Amino acid sequence: MMENAQPHQQSLHSLVRTQLVVTIAAVYTSSQVISPLLCFLAENPQYITELRKEVTECTNDTEDIDSSKLYKMDACLPEALRLNPPQTSELLKDGVVVPKGALVASPATALCMDPAIHPDPYLFSPFREDNARMPVTTLTRNKLAFGWGTQACPERFFAAKEIKLIAARILMDYDIEINPEAQSMRRYYDVEDLRVLNPGIRLQMRRRAQNPLQREDKA
Ligand code: HEM
Repeated sequence: MMENAQPHQQSLHSLVRTQLVVTIAAVYTSSQVISPLLCFLAENPQYITELRKEVTECTNDTEDIDSSKLYKMDACLPEALRLNPPQTSELLKDGVVVPKGALVASPATALCMDPAIHPDPYLFSPFREDNARMPVTTLTRNKLAFGWGTQACPERFFAAKEIKLIAARILMDYDIEINPEAQSMRRYYDVEDLRVLNPGIRLQMRRRAQNPLQREDKA
């Protein structure tokens, strides 16, 4: 960043600001997928049973999970991204000539909720045909959570792996419950084009009494 900064971007203040923006790209996005995902799963515990089964089938140690074998967990990610996209508008790059100075965005959230593309769009249904057919990192024009074209998220493979491992570990180690009032609460806030889960929504987490992968030395 120091090497590429224009003269007006070279101050310490400007460099710190840019670093913080990069942190939003990497940290805020991932946490804004994990948190809603855990809420959706707490509301649909039947999927937790399936996901735990998948983890126990691929490892006997929660500290050594091969994320590439978590196909069901992978299918949960596009569903969480669809229902709660961290960014609500993305830029498409497809050869259309845009006048200088024009502000351009594509309606990522409208696509997420289009019943012609996703039947019963408000339902958390991770094993939809579309989700099962391709990994969350595959870019399509109907799923813009990671952007599109040359500007698409370069770290989406890392992000997907990280989110799958964190979610798997939490599900194996804890029982989760969402506060009942959450049903009637506003789900998220839109801050410009960033979507943030309502911090008033609470998840209760309790260490599982029966965890088949819990090692005695870690109990
Ligand atoms: C689920 C998590 C993530 C989501 C939903 C996400 C989403 C996105 C989107 C939509 C873009 C394109 C923005 C645009 O069109 O202007 C983007 C770009 C980018 N993302 Fe991510 N991202 C995630 C995780 C990460 C992580 C973990 C990192 C870094 C470790 C990262 C680094 C970047 C960078 C550097 C760019 C800019 C690429 C460029 O302009 O050439 N992202 N991300």
